[in-house]
Amino acid sequence: MIKIENVTKTYNKTVRALDNISFSVDGGEIVGFIGPNGSGKTTTMKILTGIIKPDSGKVIINGFNIKDDPIKAKQSIGYIADNPDIFLRLKGSEFLELIGDIYKVPTDVRRKRTEGLAEKFGLTEALGSPMISYSHGMRQKIMVIAALVHKPPVWILDEPMIGLDPKSAFELKQLMREHTKEGNAVFFSTHVLEVAEKLCDRVVIIKNGHILYNGTLDELEKQNKNESLENIFLELTEK
Ligand SMILES: Nc1ncnc2c1ncn2[C@@H]1O[C@H](COP(=O)(O)OP(=O)(O)O)[C@@H](O)[C@H]1O
Ligand SMILES: [Mg+2]
Repeated sequence: MIKIENVTKTYNKTVRALDNISFSVDGGEIVGFIGPNGSGKTTTMKILTGIIKPDSGKVIINGFNIKDDPIKAKQSIGYIADNPDIFLRLKGSEFLELIGDIYKVPTDVRRKRTEGLAEKFGLTEALGSPMISYSHGMRQKIMVIAALVHKPPVWILDEPMIGLDPKSAFELKQLMREHTKEGNAVFFSTHVLEVAEKLCDRVVIIKNGHILYNGTLDELEKQNKNESLENIFLELTEK
């Protein structure tokens, strides 16, 4: 459902953020994207969602090429960006209405969906307040809800757990599991190895714009004589 092929990206003609990367995420899979700061995770996700263009290479989302069929590709995506500080003057409810309008979700359908999710994340009462008054965690939660308003099959989540309280992190992980059980795809970045360990069917490890590993964590541990995942990760990414 997500396919990225031979993508290279250079910023300002000097910083090679991604060097010929390729991988895919199938329906039914939760894939974790792991790598140190500055390794290219956010850049990859922005290219997958069509926010920035690669220098070369190809992205296919839910069967649609992001370059040739951007609207259909983007309609298939639920994206959580790495920074939730947007539209802060809007009330939470207004922001969700705006997103519902953009994706043309019928009013009754969007209300039902957003009310259910707000309840799950304990955000119902806050929806009437401007988002400028929200804590980081509350902003993160409203971004999760906004990403799901149009019921997208493909989820691309950039560090989605950051700032979430334990219950909300648990709820989000449950949602990710349920989503893939229905045959959809989840691709998310994380620093937290324990989260990846518990949640992912597969991981893609990136460093300096290169994919170092793409496979299951079990296989990675077997290849490394059953060392702890943390040690393997440190060795891989420190070289
Ligand atoms: N807008 C930008 N302009 C110039 N360099 C950038 C920009 N965004 C990211 N970079 C650089 O690209 C590399 C990858 O960054 P990023 O994709 O944000 O990594 P990650 O999300 O893994 O921390 C880093 O060297 C970063 O400094
Ligand atoms: Mg990032």
